[in-house]
Amino acid sequence: NMENLDSTIASRAHYSPPWADVSIIGIAGSSGSGKSTLSQAIVRKLNLPWVVIMSMDSFYKRLTPAQHKKAFENDYDFDSPEAIDFDVLVDCLRDLKAGKRAEIPIYSFEKHDREEKTTSIYSPHVLILEGIFALYDPRVLELLDMKIFCEADADTCLSRRLLRDVRDRGRDVEGIIKQWFAWVKPNFEKYVDPQRKVADIIVPRGVENRVAMAMVVQFIEQKLLEKSRHHRAALTRLEMEAESK
Ligand code: CTP
Repeated sequence: NMENLDSTIASRAHYSPPWADVSIIGIAGSSGSGKSTLSQAIVRKLNLPWVVIMSMDSFYKRLTPAQHKKAFENDYDFDSPEAIDFDVLVDCLRDLKAGKRAEIPIYSFEKHDREEKTTSIYSPHVLILEGIFALYDPRVLELLDMKIFCEADADTCLSRRLLRDVRDRGRDVEGIIKQWFAWVKPNFEKYVDPQRKVADIIVPRGVENRVAMAMVVQFIEQKLLEKSRHHRAALTRLEMEAESK
């Protein structure tokens, strides 16, 4: 009966399944440039349910005993794309895009290793992928809806890293500085900085940059609105087709 059909269409027309189409934002930039702070600020400003931040640290490869020893001597290169398991990352992103659950490893910077536990992520509305190589792998780039490069002066990055690694990552000042000049700085120039070329926007001064923040948030909201309209139209079409049979 027509009345029932009308109410079905009306209620379904407002329904946009969250697993249908995840928007993924990639945030790359130097170590200490403020990627995680920027990600958290975007989450707060968006004020939507189902926004998840995924850090690329989760995808550091497991180390051999010899590599592990080097890591504790601040002599292991964690700043080369080789250190990251992009295959597992791509699988995770594809699962989430397809509406499936993904198991994300939890990384310990103190142990230079993954924890036993993992976290489950259920396909969110918006996923923020942050890490020094978020805009590196072409398979990842293909899945991104927005590409951000977070920029800060090198001295700002190094001071932030020093304070954070001593406070949160169980490191000492000498080791941090040794690692910075041996691996972090040269690889920033070689691999991290060139990602600027594929970015949609470059955000200088991180979270202090209110104009850039507003642009990012507005873009995502617009994108979500378009997707929701698209799903609604598709549902209405389906209902019409079913009715005409
Ligand atoms: N790293 C390390 N030891 C490990 C694994 C990674 O010291 N076992 C370092 C790498 O040298 C790399 C950095 O971790 O440079 C990546 O994290 P970083 O980008 O500094 O942290 P985020 O919080 O993701 O970003 P931001 O500092 O921009 O907020």
